[in-house]
Order: sequence, then structure tokens, then C-alpha cells
Amino acid sequence: MTDGFGRVIDYLRISVTELCNYRCRYCMDETGVGKRGHEEILRLEELAEIAAAAVALGVKKIRLTGGEPLVRRGILDLCRMLADLPGLEELTMTTNGSLLSELASELRRAGVNRLNISLDSLSPARFADLTRRGRLSDVLAGIEAAEDAGFRHTKLNAVLLGGVNTDELSDLATLARDRALSVRFIELMPIGVCADWPPERFVSADAVLQAVPGLEPVGTDGVAALYTIPGWKGTVGLIRPMSCGFCDRCSRLRLTADGKLKPCLHSSEEIPLRGLHGDDLSAAILEAAARKPRQHALTAQGRSDSPRRMHEIGG
Ligand code: 5AD
Ligand code: SF4
Repeated sequence: MTDGFGRVIDYLRISVTELCNYRCRYCMDETGVGKRGHEEILRLEELAEIAAAAVALGVKKIRLTGGEPLVRRGILDLCRMLADLPGLEELTMTTNGSLLSELASELRRAGVNRLNISLDSLSPARFADLTRRGRLSDVLAGIEAAEDAGFRHTKLNAVLLGGVNTDELSDLATLARDRALSVRFIELMPIGVCADWPPERFVSADAVLQAVPGLEPVGTDGVAALYTIPGWKGTVGLIRPMSCGFCDRCSRLRLTADGKLKPCLHSSEEIPLRGLHGDDLSAAILEAAARKPRQHALTAQGRSDSPRRMHEIGG
């Protein structure tokens, strides 16, 4: 499957729920979600049917996101269904890590190949404030549990929050010194609840290069530019959505929990898939690919066109 600009589309991100047990300040407001009724959310069988159609059209990698995917009932069943799809090369998940100490080994057995775990601060008080209800110790235990369960090349994602965690860039990066994982710093995007945040919150990923002297470029991994320091086991990744540098390498489509396929994270365009089967479903997926814009207008416009909040799209 290719889009109108010749990009190969082989990566599908599926938001399996809008719900989350955290309320990260840049993602949700205090009251959380609850906007959509249960019946509006795709059932597991519907998710699996869409995933199968996408894989038949050439999708090789699926990432499950949320909200928090591990709060979705039946998530392990879904993982098993997807892992069995012939042609799928990689099944991954983005999680806040809070439930991993219970679920990591079951996820591994259910066929999940790799994990991205969000970790924006190593200060317990700051972590609690930022997530409004998270506990740092749960996530650190979750990271250990993932390692013990056999997950390798785990990615730890930190959103760069100017004036909030920018004094921790070196400490966060240094997690990659003794462990074979990638610590990735993501520029904050003006989408959803943080669309109107003050300019000082938005920090360039260059801040990491300044805070961690000695980082040397070692290539790219998807949308991340990778760096390391000789002798380190892991890598530091910089993800710069704001500078739009990777739109020309974009290979993804996004499925929302209520069954809309989004050609681009930052566009308001959505193609409803619910109720479609067989050739109609395939045609709708191809249409979403064909409608991918060349690039987003985040920098030009200062905010995302998408009316959805981050927990509705899955990061
Ligand atoms: N800008 C950048 N990243 C974000 N995430 C959520 N909201 C934003 C935003 N405004 C990321 C978080 C989380 C993932 C699900 O999405 O890093 O790890
Ligand atoms: Fe939940 Fe992730 Fe949003 Fe935080 S960023 S509230 S963990 S979905």
C-alpha cells in the first residue's frame, strides 16, 4: 500500500481505548474522558477484522496504544489474535507502564514483540504531579518486569516539557548507559489540552544534546534520530515532530478507538471504518492511505488541526 506521494504505508497504530488510569497534564484534563459511550468503542472482533484487512494490504507493523492499552478489557486476547495474523512482522505496544509488573510476562506470551514505556520524570513527586495519579515506583517496577519477561530493545519515551523536566535530561538519558534500551525525547506538540500552553513549555530536542555532552549520532530508527556515547549499552533518541523533519518518511495510519482511520495525526480528516467488511473495508483503508497529506502544518500554524486529544489518538 502506498500513498499519493509514493510513501509505503506499512505501519498501523491502533488506539484500543480512550481511557487511562493516569491524567498526564499534557494529554488529558483532570476529569479524564468518558465522552464516548461503551457502545461507540470498537469491539475486539472489529479491531481484529480491521487489523487483518490492513495486514492483507501490506501493513507489517502494528502498535497498540490508548489511552492506556492495558486498561482495555480483553487486551491479551486481542494481542493473541493480532500476533497470529500471517504477514504481520511486529506487534508492539505503547504503555504508561503502570500495570506492567502484573502483565509483562502475559503480554510477552500473547505475542507482543516490543514495548514503549512513557517516563517523563525520575522524581517521584514530579512524576505524581505530572501524571496526577501515577506512581513512579510502579513504572520503574514495570520496566524491570518487562526486562525480566524477555522484552528487549524497550523504548522509554520522555516528552520534553520546558521548565518541568528539562533539568532531568541528563539523568533520563543516562538510563541508556547501563541498559540496552533507548531513551527517546519527544518534542511537545501543541495538540489537545496543551495547544494553548505558553511558548516556554515547548523545547527543542537540541536541549538534550546540550545537556548530555558527548552524544554521537548513530543513525535513525523510524522517526527518531539516534545518538549514543562510546561505552553505553543503549541509545538516546530525539523525536522532532515540530520541525516536520520526518513527514517524508511517514509510513503510518492511525485507527481511533471509535473506528475512524486517520491519514495523519494532525489532520482533522477521518475515514469511518465501522460496519465495513471485505472489499469495502479494504477500499476505505486504501482511501485513507491515498489521503495522507505531504506533511502536517504544526510549525506553520502553531497548533494541530486535529480536534482530538492525545489520549483519543494514542500519541
Ligand atoms: N506531545 C508529544 N507527545 C505526546 N504524547 C502525548 N501527548 C503528547 C504531546 N502533546 C505522548 C506521550 C506518551 C504517548 C502516548 O504520547 O509521550 O508517551
Ligand atoms: Fe494516559 Fe498516556 Fe495520556 Fe498520560 S499521556 S494520560 S499515560 S494516555
